[in-house]
Amino acid sequence: MSATNRLIVALDTVDTTQARAWAEAVAPHSGLLKVGLEFFLANGVAGYRAIVGAPIFLDLKLHDIPNTVAGGVRAVLPLRPRMLTIHAAGGAAMIQAAHQAASGAGADRPMILAVTVLTSLGQSDLHAAGIAATPAEQVLRLGRLAIESGADGLVCSPMEVAMLRQSLGSSVKLIVPGIRPEGAAAGDQARTMTPAQAVAAGADWIVVGRPITGAPDPAAAAASIAASIQ
Ligand code: C5P
Repeated sequence: MSATNRLIVALDTVDTTQARAWAEAVAPHSGLLKVGLEFFLANGVAGYRAIVGAPIFLDLKLHDIPNTVAGGVRAVLPLRPRMLTIHAAGGAAMIQAAHQAASGAGADRPMILAVTVLTSLGQSDLHAAGIAATPAEQVLRLGRLAIESGADGLVCSPMEVAMLRQSLGSSVKLIVPGIRPEGAAAGDQARTMTPAQAVAAGADWIVVGRPITGAPDPAAAAASIAASIQ
């Protein structure tokens, strides 16, 4: 894997023209471009197809009964996303169903990545949901379940990446958002790492949004981050 393609740029907007412009600017410096729920719901398949220049990470965080998630995965296979997200909390059968559905695309199949505990949830939110474990324990438990059930990797916070890498081994793909380059505004991200710190901690890919898309020169910002993880 070349250093440049460890960078995933999040194109968080509902505006197709804006997303296309960002994609054009940053694709030469990125491994993948991330399209999320908001953009996909607003613009659908036509909007998705307008994003060109690098492979797509389709971040829909699917969570439903196994049959429905499998159908959702099959429905997006013609778009050939390289990565697709599901919620590990959907359980082993749901994760297996997503994996099997993705396998229908053969060698071209998207990687299935599982989200464990949303970073917006703290200890008290878990308790309110009847979960006695700490967030870190729950992340590891769901992470293990996801990998044992056929997920290729996990989306995790910078604070979890070293623990997951150590516990789950080197073959599990770890994708890490919550990244802020030296000196960048944290925004609503509470606990961040720089790109180089996240890669050193074990990230296979880092996800960066606003520090690139909000920069005066997104192409230069992406190139600089890519260079920092070379
Ligand atoms: O703009 P920023 O760099 O914060 O964007 C990070 C991207 O990663 C956003 O698309 C956000 O939804 C996503 N993400 C995150 N934290 C998670 C999971 C996903 O920031 N725990």
